[in-house]
Amino acid sequence: MEVLEPTTGTYQLEDYKKMREKFSWEDTKKAFSWNKTGKVNIAYETIDRHVEEGRGEKTALYYSDASRDEAFTFQAMKEKTNQAAHMFRNLGVQKGDRVFIFMPRSPELYFALLGAVKVGAVVGPLFEAFMQDAVRARLEDSEASVIVTTGDLASRIPHNDLPHLEKILIVGDSELTGKDEKFISYDEKMKAASSDDSAIEWVDLEDGFILHYTSGSTGKPKGVYHVHKAMLQHYQTAEWVLDLREDDIYWCTADPGWVTGTSYGIFGPWLYGATNVVRGGRFSPDDWYSTIDKYNVSVWYSAPTAFRMLMAAPKETLENHDLSSLRHILSVGEPLNPEVVRWGWEVFNLRIHDTWWMTETGAMLICNYPSEPIKPGSMGKPIPGVDAAIIDDNGNELPPNEMGNLAIREGWPSQMRKIWNNEPKFNEYFAIKGWYVSGDTAYQDEDGYFWFQGRNDDVIMTAGERVGPFEIESKLVEHPAIAEAGVIGKPDEIRGHIIKAFVALRDGYEETDELKAEIQKFIKSELAAHAVPREIDFKDKLPKTRSGKIMRRVLKAWELDEPTGDLSTMDDN
Ligand code: PRX
Repeated sequence: MEVLEPTTGTYQLEDYKKMREKFSWEDTKKAFSWNKTGKVNIAYETIDRHVEEGRGEKTALYYSDASRDEAFTFQAMKEKTNQAAHMFRNLGVQKGDRVFIFMPRSPELYFALLGAVKVGAVVGPLFEAFMQDAVRARLEDSEASVIVTTGDLASRIPHNDLPHLEKILIVGDSELTGKDEKFISYDEKMKAASSDDSAIEWVDLEDGFILHYTSGSTGKPKGVYHVHKAMLQHYQTAEWVLDLREDDIYWCTADPGWVTGTSYGIFGPWLYGATNVVRGGRFSPDDWYSTIDKYNVSVWYSAPTAFRMLMAAPKETLENHDLSSLRHILSVGEPLNPEVVRWGWEVFNLRIHDTWWMTETGAMLICNYPSEPIKPGSMGKPIPGVDAAIIDDNGNELPPNEMGNLAIREGWPSQMRKIWNNEPKFNEYFAIKGWYVSGDTAYQDEDGYFWFQGRNDDVIMTAGERVGPFEIESKLVEHPAIAEAGVIGKPDEIRGHIIKAFVALRDGYEETDELKAEIQKFIKSELAAHAVPREIDFKDKLPKTRSGKIMRRVLKAWELDEPTGDLSTMDDN
């Protein structure tokens, strides 16, 4: 068995075993100022606490994209987020109201998001690539009253169909502001807002602060609701797993539209007081290496797809940059292939540390640590304070090396507290008493390392993003040519999986490449670019159960040229 031993050095988590034995989440509470008052606000702890503790002049944020290059200290972040908080207060936002953020990465995104959390709102970050239907589904379900966006993206918000949506704040110049009283200039409201800290709402640990929509294999996207208490775990994993130190420059490449981009693009690193790099714009190997080089990034958190794309880039791209500032690399979102770990070892002389968690878990749960050996291909071991196990469908724990449901003992701090408006869905995760059942299958080896085997539902992980087949299928059948559609993930070397659709056409439509392209364009313009099926196969009819459900398992077997298994529920008419 291949094992990468830790390099000698000092680490934030020196002794994993000992910490597991002695640690209690009560210990972490002591790091925060609310320990004395009992009231809390995660945004205050993330930013303002550092100013109170004398770190106001430290750089909190380096932001750059093709046209901007800016830096903000913790003091500046405190003022900007206070201003945003006052802006929301002045607009009538109350504790518990849903405030959505729908814009590309920019400093304003971070001000608005933290400002909304400061006033006790529940913030809903939306990925900038979402098109109208994806935006509508999320705003409708959450009954959001305010959204912050840009002039370019505002047209994708179907505000006339959303009775709860009262205000649309537009960042930057736009013709929309002034035309309709719903559209308001963010810049003007920010300018007029005070930067004192009187707008902060002190809340309880169990009050909500964020709603991340994510996909399952059935039904609409689910609103995963997290509470302020999650900060304990954001903070503690920033210490143990990100291994952050006083002088680190940290870069998480994920967009805040996804949970990694908030838990570890905002909260974890800033709760720990690190300097955070945010790079706007699209991925390119040259741009990414330049970012590491330019800011002297020392701790870097990314995803297997990105690493695989970097691996595939010409060697010169790597050689043109000085990446010697890197000290610690981490990965999340999909299985981290051993060959990627080997590549990392070869080119950076560093181990890539895989971490496992989910939108629902709010923060890291199973990880590799700088002070522990790594078995390439394994997700690692549970963090201190958390118990994980492999269980069968009746909740019995399975012995080492047996595959089963990856489950977590209920009660970790950053655990989701509800699925918005959908209690039955929430309860499904906890159907086995005492456990959260993840939906992943895995096994644990005799040394306690967990090994990911797959999803046991039809959720597709493509390029590190989680896509629900149902949402795409529903959209596909809205296309006039399509009678039926089934969507699966097809294994792909770079992206992990790509989205593949099987469609049956309505009478009178021809199976042409033009039609395929038109269908792809339709999904891209109505849902999102990352939801587009890269491959489409035409079929006369699709395999269905007698109750009319498309059998994705049969589609997968067709695709992989595997046996189709038990077809007893299939409707063969
Ligand atoms: O299947 C697992 C996969 O991503 C799913 C969660 O997706 P999402 O909620 O979008 O969160 C992604 C990032 C927090 C999991 O059920 N996944 C996540 N991390 C890993 C992984 N699969 C294998 N290895 C991982 N390290």
